[in-house]
Amino acid sequence: MTRRPVGPVRVRVPGKINLFLSVGDLREDGYHDLVTVFHAVDLVDELTLSAAPRNTVRSTGLAGVPPGAKNLAGAAARLLAKRTRQGSPVAIDILKQIPVAGGMAGGSADAAAALVGCAALWGLELSRDQLSEYAAELGSDVPFALAGGTAIGTGRGERLSPVLARTPLHWVLAISDSGLSTPAVFGELDRLRAAGDPPRVGEVQDMLAALSSGDPTKVAAMLGNDLQAAAISLQPGLRRTLRAGVAAGALGGLVSGSGPTIALLCDDPVAAAAVAAEVAGSGTCRSVKIAAGPAPGARIIA
Ligand code: C5P
Repeated sequence: MTRRPVGPVRVRVPGKINLFLSVGDLREDGYHDLVTVFHAVDLVDELTLSAAPRNTVRSTGLAGVPPGAKNLAGAAARLLAKRTRQGSPVAIDILKQIPVAGGMAGGSADAAAALVGCAALWGLELSRDQLSEYAAELGSDVPFALAGGTAIGTGRGERLSPVLARTPLHWVLAISDSGLSTPAVFGELDRLRAAGDPPRVGEVQDMLAALSSGDPTKVAAMLGNDLQAAAISLQPGLRRTLRAGVAAGALGGLVSGSGPTIALLCDDPVAAAAVAAEVAGSGTCRSVKIAAGPAPGARIIA
């Protein structure tokens, strides 16, 4: 039953870092099997959804967000309407803070937020599992943006199981001048692997043990990403950003997902502020942000 639309609905959704990302071989469907540890951080987008005469998507904040029909938030609204055979036109306004094409699943986050927001606006009673199924249709990282926290992802990243890791982790995010395309980075990894065998990350169990210890130094030692070599091959300057972060006192760092954002793990908020100031002054990235995780998944705030 469709209830009369209420609104507007505001939804907050986090960006993510992959603390650990092991990439398997290319599958026949064009995806790679992954074993990853997702970690949501409080660098967030906010979406406002309102009933409107026609579907629109607009954004403020960071530039470069795909407009109109190309936007994954709009695609999420259309998919939900189609699958549930309910819904009405919606205006989606995105306040964008998660880097665009940055390896932090910003587009996926907006899709997850649009699912949650439209379900509320249209009065749909959907379980988290049902929303998560629609999310997986939209992209590999969308189910995690719904869930938030810290979770292991398998399959193409869409199959999740939560990880108990309540100790906060403090991050400096070094944001690059230009984005990287996710398919291009996976393709570059396939090319590097065909040409030789770049080193692979270790075992996910070691990261899980580090997380359960609550000791950020142990977590830093286990950070690893098979896509890092490919991202650096496409943007060699990332190596300098990583070095600047560690020289500034970060416990460790890595390329986030398919990059090019670099995530630098710090001891505490005071250390993060010092590392952020030094990396910002190093001239090795466009901007820096401080963030903490784990953060909750897409949720209604008003
Ligand atoms: O699922 P999503 O649309 O975010 O994926 C974008 C692209 O990233 C895919 O088309 C594929 O090229 C690559 N990808 C992959 N293996 C994954 C996830 C993404 O090769 N597990």
